[in-house]
Amino acid sequence: MSILFQPISIGSMVVKNRFVRSATHDYLGNPDGTISEEEIKLYKTLAENDVGLIISAFTYIQHPLGKAMATQNAFYSDEFIAGYKKIVEAVRPYGAKFIIQIAHAGRQTAPTVTGGLIPVAPSAVSLDEKRRPREMTEQEIEQVIEDFIAAMVRAEATGCDAVQIHIAHGYLLAQFISPYTNRRQDKWGGSVENRARIIKEIIIGAKKKLSRDFPILAKLNSTDGFAGPEYLSLEDAVSIAKMLEELGVSAIEVSGGMHEAKNFVSAVNIKSSEQEAYFQEAARVIKENIKIPVILVGGMRSFGVMEEVINSGKADMVALCRPFIKEPDLVKKLRDGKEKVSCVSCNACFNPKGIACYYKGEL
Ligand SMILES: Cc1cc2nc3c(=O)[nH]c(=O)nc-3n(C[C@H](O)[C@H](O)[C@H](O)COP(=O)(O)O)c2cc1C
Repeated sequence: MSILFQPISIGSMVVKNRFVRSATHDYLGNPDGTISEEEIKLYKTLAENDVGLIISAFTYIQHPLGKAMATQNAFYSDEFIAGYKKIVEAVRPYGAKFIIQIAHAGRQTAPTVTGGLIPVAPSAVSLDEKRRPREMTEQEIEQVIEDFIAAMVRAEATGCDAVQIHIAHGYLLAQFISPYTNRRQDKWGGSVENRARIIKEIIIGAKKKLSRDFPILAKLNSTDGFAGPEYLSLEDAVSIAKMLEELGVSAIEVSGGMHEAKNFVSAVNIKSSEQEAYFQEAARVIKENIKIPVILVGGMRSFGVMEEVINSGKADMVALCRPFIKEPDLVKKLRDGKEKVSCVSCNACFNPKGIACYYKGEL
């Protein structure tokens, strides 16, 4: 049997195969941030079609400054637990594991989304001429730490299998670890230890409040998408991965990119196997330095490449996003011999209105 269909343990959680539906904002949430019936149906469909590990769309943990998009699911207070409980109930009968991804937008949002407030960030580094966040106070940093911890406690209360902290794609925690977006000179900036301090404090605080065996995962940037000393280096990403392991994180999903790097997170026009798995080199280096499972995300489109990244020891699991938008039943198809996913990586799914490949709930 292919390695892709063999189980794996992530901390106390046993996942039935190596397929991960990476966190995917679905544009289907209710306007008040609660989970919609369509979303429950979407997660159920992924579960009944054998996705081993399903990671939720990113949820925001602080209102209103943590919110990245108008249609984002919310998780900043206990009223949002009920919706996730329904997802847990919907996926459980199929043996899928379900994880909630928690995030804070930081600078990657706009006053139109944050109720008119100026977005906050480690430092006041503009996105473009018009969008300039303001630097967070130390008190605000402490509050974000508390809010992440509260969200992790909430995640466990939903009955889900684990929680994933979003430290990728240029959102707040990725802004802290990047020297480009974090120019602070206090204990939250400068050395890699200082830049990662906020994450360390979140995990230490959460571990005190969560059950011992409730797994914490992290989606971690391996790069900002730019080379040069002013950006996050792979070396820094490795030391943060080691820190996460020491703090008791159970698995790391390796990604990369930020607002300024445009399509770096979700690369377009992946046509050849050489273009696939574009973070595999970073995953290999990170995996060499830690013992916990490494999940690779980014551009895997053929069964052979997915199998190879695991067989070659670069990662332990493969996470896919866009292919599951088009084919929520992809795992079953791959098991039945399909060799390539149908997704053409055009990124039209970032603008879902009228996009033909969006799953319409009729499988
Ligand atoms: C429509 C869409 C929504 C996404 N939402 C999230 C999200 O909520 N959280 C996250 O970490 N990444 C998100 N991503 C990034 C994906 O999880 C993934 O890292 C990236 O698309 C590369 O994987 P792929 O080539 O399999 O699509 C999203 C990507 C797309 C296309």
